[in-house]
Amino acid sequence: MPSTSKTTASRRIRSFIRRQGRITPAQLQALQEHEEIFCLDPEPAPEFPRIFQRRAPLFLEIGFGNGACLAAMAAANPDRNYLGIEVHRPGVGHLLLLIQQRGLSNIRIYCHDALDILEQCIADGSLSGIHLYFPDPWPKKRHHKRRIVKPEFVELLARKLQDQGYVHAATDWDDYAEEMLRVLNAYRTLVNTSADGRYCQRPDYRPMTKFEQRGIRLGHTVRDLIYRKCNPAE
Ligand SMILES: C[S@@+](CC[C@H](N)C(=O)[O-])C[C@H]1O[C@@H](n2cnc3c(N)ncnc32)[C@H](O)[C@@H]1O
Repeated sequence: MPSTSKTTASRRIRSFIRRQGRITPAQLQALQEHEEIFCLDPEPAPEFPRIFQRRAPLFLEIGFGNGACLAAMAAANPDRNYLGIEVHRPGVGHLLLLIQQRGLSNIRIYCHDALDILEQCIADGSLSGIHLYFPDPWPKKRHHKRRIVKPEFVELLARKLQDQGYVHAATDWDDYAEEMLRVLNAYRTLVNTSADGRYCQRPDYRPMTKFEQRGIRLGHTVRDLIYRKCNPAE
């Protein structure tokens, strides 16, 4: 993928460490059989209507983990197109299995760094919604620089959203929730949709995720943050 000056700016956020992880025989088989159809190469300016073979509102999930939430949303909303980005290959294999089992045709996947994909493959103003569920919390203070929700990342998300599109984030880490709130509330074209300008209840459309369930077992409080993009002149 060609590099741009914008890439250099967000290169400072390194939100993951590549880990091998165990890949099951079923995930491997799913990758061998379906990767070519459902996984996209990170090429600039992809023609999504051609790729999905139709025009439909486009939603993105960043860091989908095992893909269960993305598959459930795509199954519940067959009139929408979904993109998922995840660097962990076993997770991609797991999502391919779900796609195959449920016969889903409205998902495409990038197995790549979300920052590169956002900057180079997603047109400005093209997304109806962005989902960021339980991004790596990097709990140690010296690792907080790895947290993906930073002003430059939020600027990128806001740029990719169409007018009235939304960003929906969730986390089970108290201090990360406060950091997300601070960074997102500070962004001029994103309006917090909760009544008190803070957190929302989990909306019915968001299924619980694997990391969320683990957090709940540990006694953590889950917080959802939902922002709508509005024209500052309105
Ligand atoms: C804590 S897990 C949460 C997974 C899932 N959303 C859930 O709630 O079960 C965060 C995921 O984000 C992925 N991730 C982190 N940084 C990423 C990046 N820059 N691009 C793509 N995926 C990323 C990780 O590989 C990991 O699977």
